[in-house]
This record gives sequence, structure tokens and C-alpha cells, in this order.
Amino acid sequence: MEIVLSGMRPTGNLHLGSYFGALKNYIALQETENCYFFIADYHLLTTHPHPEDLQKNVRTILAQYLACGLDPQKSTIYVQSSVPQVAELYMYLNMLVYVGELQRVAAFKEKVRQNPNNVNAGLLTYPTLMAADILLHRATKVPVGKDQQQHLEMTRDFAQRFNNMYKVDYFPMPQAFNFGENLIKIPSLDGNGKMSKSCGEQATIYLTDESNELKKKIMRAKTDTGPVEKNQEKPIEIQNLFALMRSVSKTEVVQQFEDAYNDCTIRYGDMKKQLFEDMNIFLTPIREKIKQFSSDEKYLNDVMEIGAQKARKSAEQTIKDIREIIGFRG
Ligand code: TRP
Repeated sequence: MEIVLSGMRPTGNLHLGSYFGALKNYIALQETENCYFFIADYHLLTTHPHPEDLQKNVRTILAQYLACGLDPQKSTIYVQSSVPQVAELYMYLNMLVYVGELQRVAAFKEKVRQNPNNVNAGLLTYPTLMAADILLHRATKVPVGKDQQQHLEMTRDFAQRFNNMYKVDYFPMPQAFNFGENLIKIPSLDGNGKMSKSCGEQATIYLTDESNELKKKIMRAKTDTGPVEKNQEKPIEIQNLFALMRSVSKTEVVQQFEDAYNDCTIRYGDMKKQLFEDMNIFLTPIREKIKQFSSDEKYLNDVMEIGAQKARKSAEQTIKDIREIIGFRG
């Protein structure tokens, strides 16, 4: 059994891209692996959030995780800041990490460029904190996107460096978890790349969107004037519409519109209406659960408490071992 770990910064509502890009696979993984999923609220401090916002965002994302099917019985679901051992490991690792290698990290350089007035030490040591998250549970598999690959490589470097320095074989080398064919890429509604936080509210379908909102967004999605030749290639915005449809509609339904496209009888208005209906059927139960969990303070507190206990148990063992290895003995 692999120890799978992933963290998510609580920076707003989940969208369809995060669902199909990651969450859906996490939900499957918790059936077979030992999974740790956490809300990375320590990481958020680099941007100095308002205390009330921090608290609110953590609960929002937790309710949404749970509504999608992450199960506190099957996985360890926790809030990073409820496991103080993260901070202790972060400190130990920082003693082995070189300032020079941190300064060369692409994500750091990008942040410095965007925000030259807030180059704090926490930002510089972001990769150390991420390594602490992973190594604390001695995770073996980490599902990460392209933007996080460099961070994961650094985690391996730090783990190896620790093992070498103390001549132990303590940390396993965490590997990237590649979803391969199971990764459904969700495009944005404006024909520009994939759905993500940066592509604009109107081009993003949030799991919390009410059905009228959803309808508006889908009906406004970009299309062209329609095919003029049989079996002609689809322009990108039409490919996107089909990609969205494949994520929620039955294969026969998708095929029916494929055929209509290929013989030039397609009516995009009909296709969008169908897409809206199927998407709404898919999202309604999730939306309802988000509402239910968000308003159930006690349930959220219980989930956070159970997760914190499980995560601390694993963390305490690691810290105990590491203190022994480092030489804090007796
Ligand atoms: N850095 C990740 C992101 O921005 C979040 C994260 C923090 C994470 N710690 C992690 C992801 C550990 C995987 C493993 O998306």
C-alpha cells in the first residue's frame, strides 16, 4: 500500500477543473491506498491573509472536499496548522537546505517578480515547508501538477541529503503520482487553455454555481458559426464544448452531437442546453452537500478533530525518530 499525500491551498471555491483534474482521482485512491489530504493553511501565510478570511477559507475548502466524496473514515483529512510537528520538521530541514538552491526555484523567482515588496523568508522556504508536509508522513506518492514538480524534486533532494548526512535510510523518496489516462482535462469556457482560477469567473464553472448561473455560463461559451464541410476538423472552442460534454454526458448523447457536427446539422444552442442539463444533474448533489456541510459547524469541527488526531499520530512517530537520529536523545 502506498502512502499518498496531497495538499491544497485554501484560496477559493473548487471548480470543475480541480474536480476532474485531481479530486476525482483522490476519491478513487482512498479505496486502495493510505491517503493523507490536507489543507495547506501554513503555506497561505506567505501572503498575510486576514485571520477571519483564513478561518473562513479553510472551512469552505473542507466542506467542498467532503462534498466531493473525500471520506474522513477512509483517508486522513486534516488542516496543516493542526499538526504542529510540520513546523518542527520544517525547521530541521531548513538546516540542510541551501539558500542558493531556494533562490533558483522557478516559482520563487516568479513570485519575486510579481511581488517585489513581499519577498519574505517563508516564501523563500516554501519548498522546505512542502518537503516537511510530505516527509512528515513518509509519503511515497504525491499527485502533483506540472507547476509543483520542481518542488517535489527538491523534496527528494532534501530527503536524500538527510539520509546521507545521518547515514540512515529513513525517508523514502517520494515519487510523483501520475494519473495518466485517468486525467480528464477540463477546458475553460472561453477557448483559452484549461479551466483554472486564473481564467476568469465567467469562463470557470464552480462546484457552487447555482443552476441559473451555470446555465448562463454555458450558454455564453464561445462557439464558431458552425461546420460547413462534412467531417471537418473542430476549432478549439468546439473541441472544448465536446470535452466538457464528455465529462458529464452519456456516450450516446456525445455521439449524437458528434454525428450532427460531422454532417453539419449541429445546432450549438441545442448542444449547450443538453450540456447544461447534464452538468446540472452532475453538480446538483455536490452543490447540495456543500451547502449542508458548510452550515454544519459541528460536523466540520469533528472532521477536523479526527483528522488532526490521525495526522498527529503519524507525525509524532516521525519526529520522535528524527530527534533520535539527529542526536536529541534522552
Ligand atoms: N504547493 C502546493 C500548491 O500550491 C500545495 C502543497 C503544499 C502541497 N504542500 C504540499 C501539495 C505537499 C502536495 C504535497 O498547490
